[in-house]
Amino acid sequence: MDRTFVMVKPDGVQRGLVGEIVSRFEAKGLKLVGAKLELLPEERVVEQYREHLEKPFFPGLKSYIMSGPCFLMAWEGKGVVAIVRKMVGATNPAEAEPGSIRGDFALDIGRNVIHASDSLESAARELGIHFSAGELVDYSRIDEPVLYE
Ligand code: RTP
Ligand code: MG
Repeated sequence: MDRTFVMVKPDGVQRGLVGEIVSRFEAKGLKLVGAKLELLPEERVVEQYREHLEKPFFPGLKSYIMSGPCFLMAWEGKGVVAIVRKMVGATNPAEAEPGSIRGDFALDIGRNVIHASDSLESAARELGIHFSAGELVDYSRIDEPVLYE
């Protein structure tokens, strides 16, 4: 089964949106296989966003992500990477559809509440940056037989 890395950014934690966001993924049927609240060290922020290192917004992005605790999660399910990206919505909240997390809870591209991996490859890479093997839990959820065909 696929896994993805999802993170409530410091604005989402400060605004008390962790519970709402976890609820949405749980209600969808996805399985939470890892979670922790952390102040991220600079090396891990740089590693996670290494594709953006040379972009003009990178310094602001780095200080935003390091401005307070983030809530880090690993979610599992069939097609989970694409499903979560859709539920998160467009990068710019002004363009994110209502019903998506950014569409419902954010206004500004630089304060867009949540991160989610954009491919299976980046999911594996980002889970490896933020979680040790022992922090990810294999278990069955009791509703799996009715969630999947
Ligand atoms: P994320 O990686 O955080 O899930 O967001 P994303 O895939 O939707 O967007 P990405 O292009 O990877 O950008 C990473 C984060 O950088 C900030 N950003 N600011 N000011 C700007 O023009 C700008 N562009 C991107 C956003 O916080 C974005 O989520
Ligand atoms: Mg991205």
